[in-house]
Amino acid sequence: MIIEYRPVGVFHSNLTPRANAPRQGILEPENRAVIEVFDEFAEAVKDLDECEYIIVLYHLNQTTGWHPIATPPGSDRTFGLFATRSPNRPNPIGFGIIKLNKVDGTKLMVSGVDAFEGTPVLDIKPWISSIDCPGGKA
Ligand SMILES: C[S@@+](CC[C@H](N)C(=O)[O-])C[C@H]1O[C@@H](n2cnc3c(N)ncnc32)[C@H](O)[C@@H]1O
Repeated sequence: MIIEYRPVGVFHSNLTPRANAPRQGILEPENRAVIEVFDEFAEAVKDLDECEYIIVLYHLNQTTGWHPIATPPGSDRTFGLFATRSPNRPNPIGFGIIKLNKVDGTKLMVSGVDAFEGTPVLDIKPWISSIDCPGGKA
């Protein structure tokens, strides 16, 4: 089965494959970026400004393949891919809980990102602490 999605927007960031991107956006919380939501989804942005954080799902479009075993940065052992956040996945979907600083029309001013310039955005959801913080150990 093949599943097709269309992007709802795109990241504009100062991160490129040649610049150092943080391995997780939260590690550089001051790193500012813009998510441009495409005009056809403008109405869907309504009320997003009530969110302090948003969950963003994105297509890691510059990956070139995947491997079932990965070694996370700084780790001295390997893990099964699904136990890691490696971008090199069968379906290269990135996930971030990102600070939303301001909504300006269809432009979302955000900070704490790890996505390269031009990364397609697949979906945006509100981050809700009572739902999205289950506790427990990592
Ligand atoms: C380890 S992944 C984590 C992504 C996401 N926060 C997650 O947990 O799913 C982050 C890395 O992906 C890489 N990356 C960012 N944008 C990308 C893109 N559009 N295509 C491929 N790799 C990308 C960068 O090297 C960045 O450091």
